[in-house]
This record gives sequence, structure tokens and C-alpha cells, in this order.
Amino acid sequence: MIIAANWKMNPSLKDAGGLANALNAKIVQPVTRILLAPHTYLIPMSIRLQGSDIRLGGQDCHQAADGAHTGDVSAAMLRDCGASVVLLGHSERRINHGEKSRLVAEKAKQAIVHGMDVIVCLGETLGERHAGQAEQVVIDQLRASVPDEIPRGQLMIAYEPVWAIGTGEVASLADIAAMHDAIASELPKNQRGDIIPNVPILYGGSVNAENAASIFSLDNVGGGLIGGASLDAEAFDLICESARSQMLKSEFVK
Ligand code: 13P
Repeated sequence: MIIAANWKMNPSLKDAGGLANALNAKIVQPVTRILLAPHTYLIPMSIRLQGSDIRLGGQDCHQAADGAHTGDVSAAMLRDCGASVVLLGHSERRINHGEKSRLVAEKAKQAIVHGMDVIVCLGETLGERHAGQAEQVVIDQLRASVPDEIPRGQLMIAYEPVWAIGTGEVASLADIAAMHDAIASELPKNQRGDIIPNVPILYGGSVNAENAASIFSLDNVGGGLIGGASLDAEAFDLICESARSQMLKSEFVK
């Protein structure tokens, strides 16, 4: 299971240091933790997390290798600052910056060229869900945001219903299960006919210490993408602990 902390545009650098230290003090193996830090924090966090099993990631990258793109950051720059993962197509970028799936795919290609793993985010709005279009919207985003060039071993998907992000309103287990199953059945359809390893599908949207265990127990849920609760070391540790228990349980059942 993979648990990724999306700090978004938080917290202060001082608090970020304390948070990283607190997370690093815990051992949650075999769970993989990824810290998606603001770009300006990547170097200080990579120094702080030297020797740690916590992976570092950026929250976005530009689709070009380099050039006249004021204010943007390339995949190579993220990698040079210690990141090995990049989050792409988050709904806050799709909505606030007008990013379309085609652009997300371009960014993903650039990240792969620089040897990074990518987490591609998908999710419907409340209006789309109420109109009965949720699955179609998410599958359309998946098809357009994930280019065939991406080796599936470097790909993670995050399903984050827009209406569940930061609202405290988590999707029902039935809705999460149905969407993750739909995504999982779409993923092997690669036009090149590659052999596809399992692609982890993370759920995000108001995951907290109380609801994590039931979400992680669902088939085709490979972990979580955590926003607000990732700014609280204790809550994040409890979420990782739920993932760990689920992994140990699955191992035992096998
Ligand atoms: P919250 O966990 O705060 O709902 O945020 C989810 C998210 O957007 C993670 O990328």
C-alpha cells in the first residue's frame, strides 16, 4: 500500500521540518510513504529525510524539458532537488489552472523521461455525479491523461472525487469500490499490448484516521492520497498504520 501526503500550499517551513521529523520517527513498513511537498521545500526536506524510507515528490511539473516558462518547474528540476515522484492532474490544478487531461499526459511523458514515477489524479465533480456521469468522466480522464508511453511500473492513479476534497464528506464505500473497479478494469487496455503490472489506485478525499481502515479494506484500493490529515503527524501515522494492518491481514489471508 502507498500512502501519499499532499501538503498542497502548507505549512510554514519551520512546521514542515517538525512534521517531516515526526513522520520519519515512525516505521510503517511495508507501507510506502510519499511526501508531496511544495517545490521550495524539496531541498530542505530531502536533506532532512536523508536515509529515510519516505519518498519525496513534487505536486506538479511543466510539460517542457526547459525554456522560457516563467514561474514553472521542470521534472528534471524536481528530480535534481530530491524528488522521485510527481503528482499530476490534481483537481485543484485542473480547476484553478484550467489543466486538461491532454496537458496532464504531456507532463506525465516529461516526468517519465526524467525517470520519475507519476501519480495521475482523476475525479468527478458533484454535478457530474448527480448527473450519473461520474464513471464516464473518470474513465475519459484516465484514457486522456495516461499516455501509453508510461511504463505501468512507474504509474500510480489517484481517484479523488472533487466534492470529497477538503469537505469532510467522504465517498461511500460502495462508490469508492465501484470506481476503483472501473479504473482497474480500464488500465490493462494499453494499445501497445504491454504486459501490465498492477497499478496502485489510491483513494483521496477526506481520508482520516477514523475512515481509513474501511477504505483500505476494499479490493482495488492500493492506498490513499491524504490532504488535510497529512499535516497532522499523529493522524497521518494512524492512517499509515491502517494501511499496514490491511497489508499484514492480506498477507495472512494468502
Ligand atoms: P483532503 O484529504 O484534505 O480531503 O484532500 C485530499 C486531496 O486533495 C489530496 O490530494
